[in-house]
Amino acid sequence: MRAIITGIGHYVPDNILTNQELEKMVDTNDEWIVSRTGIKERRILGKDKGTSYMAVKAAEMVLEQTNTAADELDLILVATSTPDMLIPATAAFVQKKLNATNCWGFDINAACCGFVYALATASQFIETGKHNKIMVIGVDKMSAIINYKDRNTCIIFGDGGGAALLESSNEDELGVEDYIFRLDGSGANLLNVQAGGSLFPASHETVDKKMHYIFQDGKKIFKYAVTAMSDVSIKIMEKNRLTGKDIKLLIPHQANLRIIDAVAKKMGLTRDKVMINIEKYGNTTAGTIPIAMSEAYQKNMMSKGDWIIISSFGAGFTSGSLLLKWALD
Ligand code: UT7
Repeated sequence: MRAIITGIGHYVPDNILTNQELEKMVDTNDEWIVSRTGIKERRILGKDKGTSYMAVKAAEMVLEQTNTAADELDLILVATSTPDMLIPATAAFVQKKLNATNCWGFDINAACCGFVYALATASQFIETGKHNKIMVIGVDKMSAIINYKDRNTCIIFGDGGGAALLESSNEDELGVEDYIFRLDGSGANLLNVQAGGSLFPASHETVDKKMHYIFQDGKKIFKYAVTAMSDVSIKIMEKNRLTGKDIKLLIPHQANLRIIDAVAKKMGLTRDKVMINIEKYGNTTAGTIPIAMSEAYQKNMMSKGDWIIISSFGAGFTSGSLLLKWALD
């Protein structure tokens, strides 16, 4: 049995935060942000809604697109680093809102690699014949953990997410073909949110020390990201005897345009073979890849039988690439 993507959708909030608006909030400027990151604007969800709101919107788009009833779902996987609450899993809120009455579900926290890890996890349940329909969601409300006085982070991140329906298929050639994943915990101190978990539970002290905000050592992460993302992306091509010429589209994690360009170059891909939308949404963490995939689908950038590589890097450090043969017309 093969695991194929039969529907892909996304949701981003209407509210736009532009570089010009950020210029009024921190010591930065549009020219610096665009030239160093490629980002022009990002979306912000607002205080009264949590991550599950966006997850549900994206999932509803996919259910409608594929003409699927929520009670047909066997499993809901939500990849996120910004759950609505620490307990229960965001998947529980999504299940209730969708009224998906015949499924189970859980969250996956792999930061920016969340969606690609979740897709691979879901593919196992399909390939073993255990399940037929799995909703795989990648979504983050990064504005909930951003210090809008920290120019190192507030210019980069945004809110949004996407969802894919993974189904079983008898067509041998299509769907998830292979993946290569890595986890390197030595990077845990370079990109993290320290407080709010069991090591540093919320306290006046953690709030005073701003430990509930995301911290990143951008320079070190940049170098690691280029190396790690290129490595797994090149390895998956080599392992499957493919070259840049065989790949129709790379859908990379959108963290920095310079990272994307460096990875694509090392893979032997020209810009027209790379899905890029970072200028509109910034880095939505687990959301970037399904949003990019959904927009690529809307723009007819993929046809049935095309080789697609998804590749990502994130906190942990996590990294991974997934090769699939596109199954939709
Ligand atoms: O998805 C999760 C993984 N995260 C990432 O992949 C992030 C990877 N890192 C990056 O994308 C980049 O490192 C950043 C965009 C975060 C920073 O870009 P950079 O080219 O590495 O800049 P830098 O940190 O080396 O800073 C260069 C200069 C510094 O000034 P000096 O020391 O040269 O005088 C910074 O203080 O730019 C300054 N700077 C800024 N200036 C204007 C740092 N942030 C800003 C800012 N606006 N927002």
